[in-house]
Amino acid sequence: MGNDADAAVREQIAYYRARASEYDRVYAEREDLRVLRPLIDMLPVMGDVLELACGTGQWTGLLAARARSVMAVDAAPEALAIAQERVRSTTIQFARADVFAWHPPRRYDTVFSAFWLSHVPPARLPAFWNTVADALTPAGRAIFIDNGRGEAASEDVLAGQPVPAVRRRPDKGSEYRIVKVFHDPDRLVRDLATWEWSARVWPVGTRFIAGTADPLSVAG
Ligand SMILES: C[S@@+](CC[C@H](N)C(=O)[O-])C[C@H]1O[C@@H](n2cnc3c(N)ncnc32)[C@H](O)[C@@H]1O
Repeated sequence: MGNDADAAVREQIAYYRARASEYDRVYAEREDLRVLRPLIDMLPVMGDVLELACGTGQWTGLLAARARSVMAVDAAPEALAIAQERVRSTTIQFARADVFAWHPPRRYDTVFSAFWLSHVPPARLPAFWNTVADALTPAGRAIFIDNGRGEAASEDVLAGQPVPAVRRRPDKGSEYRIVKVFHDPDRLVRDLATWEWSARVWPVGTRFIAGTADPLSVAG
């Protein structure tokens, strides 16, 4: 299973690298994604923010407007280059990192991710949430926005994969399998409780979910 997850993550990083220059098109084309952006103002973003899997920076500027500082990380240098052009500010730093092979260098008041949690292989979720806990200050909070189950109808969901996956194809080149888990809000709250998080997760329309999570214990 570990090797399956490694291979799936490698393939999804390759996909996002290959299609970085196309990525923003989805925000231009999808009205429902654009209207999601004001949601950030209803979420408790504060202080020093760590943004995981920032991609081309669609959310980074919105976070920076609410934060003291933003550290935005992503595994795709091509996406980071676009993000760096999009949002220039002395309060924003970018770093290239594979979230699964990275340890936060300090603690943050907010750990934010958009459309990232669904790309975490299920077997890696407990370790991933431990990394998030290690990245939070004692009063810190994780915040996420992602696809919900309603989005599955628009994806080419692959059956019989060792890691839940969908098929995607950039404009040019071959197809890729990327990890995609369409989380159910109630199930996710229950899972997070078993990993020692107190979470609230709610549907946003039929295609999206949003959530906040607080670690039940914060290592000193
Ligand atoms: C769906 S995009 C989300 C980008 C951005 N957060 C947004 O909402 O527009 C997923 C992002 O995850 C990044 N990614 C995939 N696997 C990763 C990994 N193992 N570590 C860090 N970033 C990863 C990809 O490069 C891509 O930018």
